[in-house]
Parts: sequence; C-alpha cells; structure tokens
Amino acid sequence: MRDSLILGIETSCDETAAAVVARAPDGTGRIVSDVVLSQIAEHSAYGGVVPEIAARAHVDALDGLVKAALAQAGVTLGDVDAVAATAGPGLIGGLLVGLMTGKAIARAAGKPLYAINHLEGHALTARLTDGLAFPYLMLLVSGGHTQLVLVKGIGDYERWGTTIDDALGEAFDKTAKLLGLPYPGGPAVEAAALTGDADRFAFPRPLVGEARLDFSFSGLKTAVRQAAQAIAPLSDQDVADICASFQKAITRTLKDRIGRGLARYRQLPQGAPALVVAGGVAANKAIRQMLQGLCTEHGVRFVAPPMSLCTDNAAMIAWAGAERLAFDLAPDPLSASPRSRWPLDAKAEALIGYGKRGAKA
Ligand code: KG4
Ligand code: ZN
Repeated sequence: MRDSLILGIETSCDETAAAVVARAPDGTGRIVSDVVLSQIAEHSAYGGVVPEIAARAHVDALDGLVKAALAQAGVTLGDVDAVAATAGPGLIGGLLVGLMTGKAIARAAGKPLYAINHLEGHALTARLTDGLAFPYLMLLVSGGHTQLVLVKGIGDYERWGTTIDDALGEAFDKTAKLLGLPYPGGPAVEAAALTGDADRFAFPRPLVGEARLDFSFSGLKTAVRQAAQAIAPLSDQDVADICASFQKAITRTLKDRIGRGLARYRQLPQGAPALVVAGGVAANKAIRQMLQGLCTEHGVRFVAPPMSLCTDNAAMIAWAGAERLAFDLAPDPLSASPRSRWPLDAKAEALIGYGKRGAKA
C-alpha cells in the first residue's frame, strides 16, 4: 500500500490556509506543504476578528493558497486521494468559502470530500507530530475555545471541561484591549507581565476547588477592569503589574482545573498517558511551564506541537481527513453544510456561553 495524500483547507476564523499531508499505512504522517495567510493586519484596528472582513479575505486568498500548496508539494489534484475542508465550528462566512471551495475541487477532480470539525483537527495533530496512541487528553486554549477533551479515537471524543463564558485567549485579548495594549492581546499581556508584580492585585480564581472540570474567565476580566479603573490613569508599571497578576490568576486557575483532569485521567486504563496542548494560548511560557510541571507531577507525558501547528492551519485539517480515510470513515456528501456550532462531543450538553462567539478555535 502507498501513502495517502490529502489536500486540506482551513477558513474557520482569521487564517486562510491550505496544505497537503501524506499518511503512511503504518500511521505516520508527513506535511508535504503547508501555507497560511494570517489576517491579523486586517482585524487589528478593531481589536478582534470582524466576520465580514474575514469572509471577504478568505474569498480573495483561498484559490491562490490552494494552488500554492499543490505547487509546493509538487502534486496535481489528480494525485490527491481526498479533499478535507473545515466545516465548523467557526465564523459561518469563512466556513462557507472554504467548504464550497473544497466541494468544488472534490467534484471537479472526482475525489471524496471530508467535511472536518476544526476541533478534531486540533485534537488529532499530536498523532501527526508525535504519533500518539489513544487515549490522550487534549487541552485546547485558543481565542474561541477552552476545552479539556479525552481523545479516545477518530471521531470519538469526550469533553471533560469547557468554558462557561469567555475563552482563555478572549480573556487575554479583552484584558489587553482595556489596558490599551495591541491585538492580539496574549503576546502583549505576556510581555508586559515580565516586568510586573504578580502579587500586587489579588484577582479571582473562578471555579478553583470545584470538582467539575469547567472554566470561567469573565469574572476575572471584570475584576481587571475594576482594578484598572480604581487606579487610572495607569502608568506602564501599573499595566505590567495588572498583567502579571492576571497571568498569575490564570495560571493558578488552570493548574487547579487541569490537575483535577489529570488525576481523573490517570484512573483510566491506558498505555502511555499524555497531555497535548493546542491553540494560540499554548505559546504562553508561564502556562506551558505550569503544564509541564503538572504533567511531571502526575507522571504524564507533556506534548506541545510546534506553534505553527498549535495555531490554526490546514495541515491539521488534511491530517484529520487522512485519518478518517485510513480508518474507513465515510466521506461526506456534497450536500454537507457548514456549522457555526459543532461540539466535538455530541453527548456533552451545551453550557452557557459555550461557542458563544463560535468564531475561533
Ligand atoms: O489558536 P489561535 O492562533 O487562533 C484562534 O483562536 O483561532 O489563538 C489566538 C489566541 C488569541 O486570543 C491570542 O491572544 C492568544 O491566542 N495568544 C496568547 C499568546 N499568544 C497568542 N495568549 C497568551 N499568551 C500568549 N503568548
Ligand atoms: Zn483553532
């Protein structure tokens, strides 16, 4: 048997991306080409992603990116075995652009189509990069999602925890905005925190100590706003102190939640236990260090794929298609519709605010 070759398309938020990924019969994967166009410049003036601008930018860029991905891979559409396009969750305009393009290519080239759940792309990336075996635990922390998921198999996911209000990246972005720091806020808050006093403000640590594994960040954001208003106008040192105290509250909260998750995970029968991080917030060094320490404590391997594969990309979508093809999961009909909300775990009830923005993952 030869390697399968999949073309992937990702347009669920503010990255337009196309990639070609190969999967060998033994389950190992290889990224053959991977092109991503970030729209940060288009959205930065607004302090967040503007759906209409994003959709138009995807229309402008996608055809060229698909061509570039095929050219860099040195293949034609005739060589690929399937087309995989993100069908949700995300911004509906962008999803329409990517899924329609995927359908048109699949139809024209006579290839099967896989309408991929973006969260599945994040969830399976660690099998592409590190060849992880099931089951493993995934922490997805991005601008639109905060989820702790048990990855049991292809298409088999158990959501253990999610945010009941804001996503973690969103909390960083909103905090940055109210402190006058640039978008995206995560890197700016992390940089400012380096010179701040993390003990100056005692910000709340929502849900800490509770047995459920959910997250909540909106109270923290409100506390930051009140602290900032109480001492306005803010000096650079005040901003640094707020950022450091905010990051400390986040890190402590995550430590409590994930620590509980790891303890529960360790009760399960399994081979080599692992925790995988995904999403843009995984770039945060304080959070990474905390997770690494926690994993060591619990005897769990900590897997952090390269940042280019933690943030949104099409290689993970192509890979999810490759895994679906390899495990004989049925391709999707050309009538498949994009879904702005699409939980990975159909059995998990929707929590208040879950997928509220539905925008990013
Ligand atoms: O996964 P991602 O690139 O995009 C989507 O959400 O689709 O994640 C972006 C999010 C933003 O909210 C950004 O502020 C956050 O990740 N982020 C960070 C850091 N770098 C990016 N948050 C905290 N610390 C960072 N260093
Ligand atoms: Zn994502």
